[in-house]
Amino acid sequence: MIKIAVLVSGSGSNLQALIDANLSGKIVGVISNKPEAYALKRAKQAGIATAIIEHKKYPNRESFDAVMHQQLLDWDIDLVILAGFMRILSASFVQSWQGKMVNIHPSLLPNYKGMHTHQRVLNTGDVLHGCTVHYVTTELDAGQALTQGVLKVGLHDTEETLSNRIHVLEHLIYPQAIEWICNGTIQHLDNGDVHYKGQKLDKPIQFCQF
Ligand code: GRF
Repeated sequence: MIKIAVLVSGSGSNLQALIDANLSGKIVGVISNKPEAYALKRAKQAGIATAIIEHKKYPNRESFDAVMHQQLLDWDIDLVILAGFMRILSASFVQSWQGKMVNIHPSLLPNYKGMHTHQRVLNTGDVLHGCTVHYVTTELDAGQALTQGVLKVGLHDTEETLSNRIHVLEHLIYPQAIEWICNGTIQHLDNGDVHYKGQKLDKPIQFCQF
C-alpha cells in the first residue's frame, strides 16, 4: 500500500477531502509549517500522525527542507501531497521527490501560475476557470498536469465566490488523481513520462462543471 504524507499550512479542506475519500493508499502523516493550522486538528481527528516543522526556526530554506525530508524518510513515505502548503521548496528537496510529489493549484495551468489566480481571471474576463493537480518540478506550477476541474465564470462571480466554487472542484479532482496514482492508473515513469491507463498522458483529464 502506498504511504502518503500531506503537507499543509492552513485550513486543510483538501486534506479533509483526501481523508474522506478512503483512498487505497494510506495517509501516514501530516506536516505543517504553521502550528495553528486547522489542518492539524483534522489530521488528529482522523488519527493521523502530525509533525509541526516551523520554517521560522530555520536559518534558510535548505535546512528547513532537510528536516521535512528526514521526517518523510522516517515515515517511509512513497507519495508527498501538497495541500495548501505555502512555502516554496528548495530545488534539492523537489529533486529528491521528483515523480513522487503532487500539488493542486487554483487555475487552469499553464494559465495563471503563482498567486491571486481568481482576481487575475476576473481582471482578464476569462469565461473558464478551474484548478489543476500536477506533479511538482523545480519550475513553479509547471510539472505535468494530471487532472483539471473546469467551471464557467458567472457574471456575478467575485474573488470570494470563485474561491468557494474552485474549492468544491478541488475536493473532487484531488482525491480522484491521488486514487489513480495509488491504484496504478496513473504512473510516473523513470524517464519523466506520465502514463494514464498505460498510454502517455499529454493533457490533463478534465472534469467540467457545466
Ligand atoms: C487550495 O485552494 C489550493 O488550490 C491551494 O491552496 C488552497 C488550500 O486550501 N494550493 P485548503 O487548505 O485545502 O482548504
